[in-house]
Amino acid sequence: MKHYLLVANWKSNKTAEEVKEWLTEFKSSLSAIPVPEHLTIVLCAAFPFLPMIREYIDRERLPLLLGAQNVSPFGKGAYTGEVNIEMVKGLINVVLIGHSERRKYFGEKEQELLQKSVLSHEAGFSVIYCVAGVRDPVPDSADYIAYEPVSAIGSGTGEDPKEANAVCAKLSEDHAGKTVCYGGSVDEKNCTEYLNQPSINGLLVGGASLDAKRFCQMIQAISSLTY
Ligand code: PGA
Repeated sequence: MKHYLLVANWKSNKTAEEVKEWLTEFKSSLSAIPVPEHLTIVLCAAFPFLPMIREYIDRERLPLLLGAQNVSPFGKGAYTGEVNIEMVKGLINVVLIGHSERRKYFGEKEQELLQKSVLSHEAGFSVIYCVAGVRDPVPDSADYIAYEPVSAIGSGTGEDPKEANAVCAKLSEDHAGKTVCYGGSVDEKNCTEYLNQPSINGLLVGGASLDAKRFCQMIQAISSLTY
């Protein structure tokens, strides 16, 4: 049986109050859904919210891993404004690295992304490494590859599932042992279409993950997949 990864990426969204509302709604919607064993669910939230989300996950025993959306390429020291990997130990399980928005708006380049990936891996975190295609390098230290065609992100029109599958198949072939996911306008309606593709083993969801009900509808849809 395939094992799936479902990642909510909230990006730079939500206030503390909205985070609490999402968690409450998520918990109540999830109580009616049998979360399948073949699904790992991850929530990637902004740094200020990680402690409160960690506390809530632990208290309510939610089947949810917690992720950071970024991390410093350096360790501790004179790097004003940076959050280094030691600071999130005990809070998170996963680090998202190289998202196209980090590359586009913050000028992140391969060397820096490689450093982030190595530091995260050495600290014991799983790394979800985002690429826009097969030409982007993928560090050995990455555990998951998220293929996200830039034109599909936030556009409401995801890539054709078969075309996305072809890229994911090549990524799996080129980087054996890494789980390959797709991201870009995934929602509760199209999520199973992507996961039904043989080489897509997970989904990275932005906009549609901001609403806990919609995110739980995705979990429900995925729970009906049998392979
Ligand atoms: P989207 O974002 O689902 O809003 O397209 C996906 C992502 O950027 O990870």
